[in-house]
Amino acid sequence: MCDCCGSHVSKVERVAVDPLYSPMEGTIIRTKQMTEKEKFFEIKLDGGKELGHMPGQFVQFSMFGIGEAPISISSSPTKKEKGTFEVCVRNVGMFTGMMHKLDVGDKIGVRGPFGRPFPIDELKGNDIIMVAGGLGIVPLRSLINFVIDKRRDFGEVTILLGCKAPKDRLFTSEIDTWNRITDINYACTVDKADPDWKGNVGVITTLIPGVDVDINRTYAVIVGPPIMYKFVIAELLRKGLPEKQIILSLERRMKCGLGKCGHCQINEKYVCQDGPTFTYDEIKGLEEAL
Ligand SMILES: Cc1cc2nc3c(=O)[nH]c(=O)nc-3n(C[C@H](O)[C@H](O)[C@H](O)COP(=O)(O)OP(=O)(O)OC[C@H]3O[C@@H](n4cnc5c(N)ncnc54)[C@H](O)[C@@H]3O)c2cc1C
Ligand code: FES
Repeated sequence: MCDCCGSHVSKVERVAVDPLYSPMEGTIIRTKQMTEKEKFFEIKLDGGKELGHMPGQFVQFSMFGIGEAPISISSSPTKKEKGTFEVCVRNVGMFTGMMHKLDVGDKIGVRGPFGRPFPIDELKGNDIIMVAGGLGIVPLRSLINFVIDKRRDFGEVTILLGCKAPKDRLFTSEIDTWNRITDINYACTVDKADPDWKGNVGVITTLIPGVDVDINRTYAVIVGPPIMYKFVIAELLRKGLPEKQIILSLERRMKCGLGKCGHCQINEKYVCQDGPTFTYDEIKGLEEAL
């Protein structure tokens, strides 16, 4: 018997309608080619459904005959227009290449939201340094806009962004608005400038010595490529930041997103469920984690 309606529905059938197991249908309502490799999508779930995510979570997208891929949710749940969510996808292979061919009005399967979000309740009332390298801006944008929309809940806020070259920067006009917010510290750097670039040049770690850190109330949230974590974490530890106040998001190959298949497993940790967000002290001993 079904718990809610009393009908004769088997357990298997009930599992089949759980949005974590069986995809909901979504419609693409806006797209934008952001760079040569990255495309933005805004998606509305059909039937008036809400995704109900928190910053740091991801969805599993699916396409018939192609497969599934985990993609971070880039919009904040505080977004004014309710009922849609945003992602940015880098074209690296089969699934992401097919997704780049989709446009407004096309349908896509959506499971989720999955994963442990950033620990918002712990961050509240404290200072936050948010550090994004490359595509790391995609998941971190959700937290950044959450913090901006609930600015009074947080102490000092610092945003540090880095990417390889000016042409690789994502969300440029939105980032310009963050830069103009007077009670937020903001700095951006590129590894290699072009003739029009007037900003900082150098790897992202070069921005950290200029940031004030009160070790009693500062949390750092870092998202970027594995190589970046090692150096950014070393700089933050040098400033005396405790390991449990350093939060990062790991990317691993995933299949189920549900802690069942083991694809994302690092020792006893399932990145899809125990993460993708972790504190540094939770993962520093795990080989292959960083
Ligand atoms: C939690 C999570 C969040 C993610 N968020 C985003 C996002 O917001 N935007 C985005 O563009 N991508 C994101 N990814 C990565 C994305 O899932 C992969 O790029 C995608 O699954 C590749 O599928 P494909 O079929 O296009 O590529 P494939 O044809 O399977 O592979 C193409 C190439 O990419 C490599 N590759 C495939 N999957 C991964 C992976 N997970 N990590 C590293 N290399 C991989 C392969 O080794 C191969 O070289 C995320 C991954 C995870 C686990
Ligand atoms: S993706 Fe299957 S266990 Fe994590």
